[in-house]
Amino acid sequence: MRKPLLQTYDAKAVARLDRLYSTPQIVDQRRQFRAIISARPGEVGLDVGCGVAYLACELAREVEPRGRIKAIDNSQDSVAASKTRIAREGLERLVDVRTGDAADLQFPDETFDFVTATQVYCYVPDAARAVKEAARVLRKGGRLVILDSDWDMCIWESSDRLLTRRIIDARSAVQFAHANLPRMLHGFIRAAGMTLSGVQAFPIIETRYDPNAYSAGIIEPARNAALKHGIPPGDVAAWENDLRSRTSDGEWFFCLNRFVFTATK
Ligand SMILES: C[S@@+](CC[C@H](N)C(=O)[O-])C[C@H]1O[C@@H](n2cnc3c(N)ncnc32)[C@H](O)[C@@H]1O
Repeated sequence: MRKPLLQTYDAKAVARLDRLYSTPQIVDQRRQFRAIISARPGEVGLDVGCGVAYLACELAREVEPRGRIKAIDNSQDSVAASKTRIAREGLERLVDVRTGDAADLQFPDETFDFVTATQVYCYVPDAARAVKEAARVLRKGGRLVILDSDWDMCIWESSDRLLTRRIIDARSAVQFAHANLPRMLHGFIRAAGMTLSGVQAFPIIETRYDPNAYSAGIIEPARNAALKHGIPPGDVAAWENDLRSRTSDGEWFFCLNRFVFTATK
């Protein structure tokens, strides 16, 4: 019997994802990421942990008219938001989205030309198994493209750097199964019988406060995680006030190092 899905993304998190991943910088990063995937017309691809299906819809336009994209996510709210986007973009024929677990893919062996997982395996407790599952459903010669972050490589300028580090670490502990997954990924890829074909750094860098951009968008979850983790509320409020007051030129600096791993079966 299949285990019930353990959802990490509720409706509020999905709404935040929808907002943050439509910002110009993230849209541009997806363009660069798609260039790495190099989807071709006629290919069949799987997007694991599709979120609100921005990438799945963009990939569908690259594989059409005969190709197809399957997308799975373990959050019913993500799947519902994805279905709305797919219908709005008229892509129902090309993109099929359903609930599913990255570590237990419900597809036959050797189904896909490519599999991608962006910012997903960090949430999956058995990430090694999820990579094995991706390898299993790939055709021989198929490619796996993974994007994940190392949260020790997150720099966020503030007037109290140690407190900022504690808050980032608290968020890592509360939110992720693996906050430093990139260090382990090449081992998982090899253990899954795949050949690592490339690794590159893929940072998000922001140099001004923009309430709609990625870094400002994660202040709220970081604050909530810090409170949950026992950091005194006064410290957390002072941290947030400091960040939100950094609206003048030169006051804001955020960098998160993400990595893209490509592998071939
Ligand atoms: C940060 S979002 C990334 C969404 C999308 N890949 C993107 O880059 O826009 C993480 C997504 O992974 C999904 N997720 C987390 N654990 C999962 C699992 N075990 N199986 C499938 N999806 C999962 C979450 O529900 C969420 O939609």
